[in-house]
Amino acid sequence: MNKPKTVVVGITGGIAAYKIAELVSRLYKNGFNVQVVMTKHATRFITPLTLRTLSNNPVLVDMFDESGTHRVQHIGVAEEADILVIAPATANIIAKMACGIADDLLSTIVLATRAPVLLAPSMNTNMYDHPATQDNIRKLKDRGVTILEPAEGELACGVTGRGRLPEIETIYDKIIDVLEDRPRDLVNKTILVTAGATQEDIDPVRFITNHSTGKMGYALAAAAVRRGARVFLVSGPTYLTVPDGVESRQVRSAREMNDICHELFGQVDVVIGAAAVADYRPLDYSDEKLKKNDNDMVIKLTRNPDILEGLGKRKQHQILVGFAAETSDVIQNARQKMQKKNLDLLVANDLTVEGAGFAGDTNIVTLLFKDGREEKLPLMSKLEVAGVILDAVLELF
Ligand code: PMT
Repeated sequence: MNKPKTVVVGITGGIAAYKIAELVSRLYKNGFNVQVVMTKHATRFITPLTLRTLSNNPVLVDMFDESGTHRVQHIGVAEEADILVIAPATANIIAKMACGIADDLLSTIVLATRAPVLLAPSMNTNMYDHPATQDNIRKLKDRGVTILEPAEGELACGVTGRGRLPEIETIYDKIIDVLEDRPRDLVNKTILVTAGATQEDIDPVRFITNHSTGKMGYALAAAAVRRGARVFLVSGPTYLTVPDGVESRQVRSAREMNDICHELFGQVDVVIGAAAVADYRPLDYSDEKLKKNDNDMVIKLTRNPDILEGLGKRKQHQILVGFAAETSDVIQNARQKMQKKNLDLLVANDLTVEGAGFAGDTNIVTLLFKDGREEKLPLMSKLEVAGVILDAVLELF
């Protein structure tokens, strides 16, 4: 794994401070080094202990605490940061930043860092709309600070309006955007991504499925749309949120996924098959719930269409990328799939390795190219893997 990036998460004293536990946990699970810095007021809303546990790092609050690892704490943290995120950002920290006031650890780090700074404001609507706050926000934007728009809704003070902390997912995605600082190199390209598991009905209450959560496919869709592509996401059932800007088509069965992929194929430049499509479905669907008895039951299965193989036969200018989820002879099996399905690139994941495959936020993959090249990648977050796959696709154009 490359040296993990350091995300310094500054938390100021707003009611939304408790939500940052989720952000910290997500960053840590995705392989970031997370350094939490809290204002004294923030510690009234969420304990440093919670954040220390979730970030696996000591939480810094006091300017003069000498327990940290840096010789001069605020300078050390400021230099170590690859990004400084302040969430929730109160009207107070925004005002202090606009004036260059450094009267506690967090505001001092803000002045000392040269890392990109991202703010997620959250406060009462009147405080947010106040001309002083709006002036301060403008000043900070002019200085290159990235500021997320607060969401609208019911606020803790009972008022309904602008001022809620943006969704954690939005803050997380923005952090990745700022860190990656990728060019919009997929503008004018249309990419179809399949994601998740399909469900093959046995009767009205039972179905056959697998462990795919859709995370790999959704990461690909999010990464591609950020790089400027038009993205169709054809997804099996999942609890994930469709990334902003992605055109999603939700399906259940392999046959539904197959129909939509064939319908869209003429419009796309790239297909990436990250879905774990059921190879088989029950031959007979029972309209009524199957009754149990004391005997064993046999369900006869029949083959589903192979989506990528079908698209491979129709391929003209399109680039086809497949995944192979294997538990043995990974590379050999993957190469066979690549040939059979007429793929340009195959992403092999070895399901027996910890950190790879289903459900987690990370993957370990090997890219197999048509010309025989192999690129083995280290453990990475699924979003990072998506970035490397898209780089490889770009190379193939
Ligand atoms: O969704 P996650 O929880 O994040 O997990 C990610 C993942 C493990 C599902 C993903 O990384 C992955 O490996 N996806 C492909 C899983 C799979 O079904 O592999 P396969 O070897 O059975 O299929 C090979 C390729 O053919 C795949 O690109 C698959 O989408 C495609 N296929 C398979 C069967 C079928 N009937 N039609 C297809 O198009």
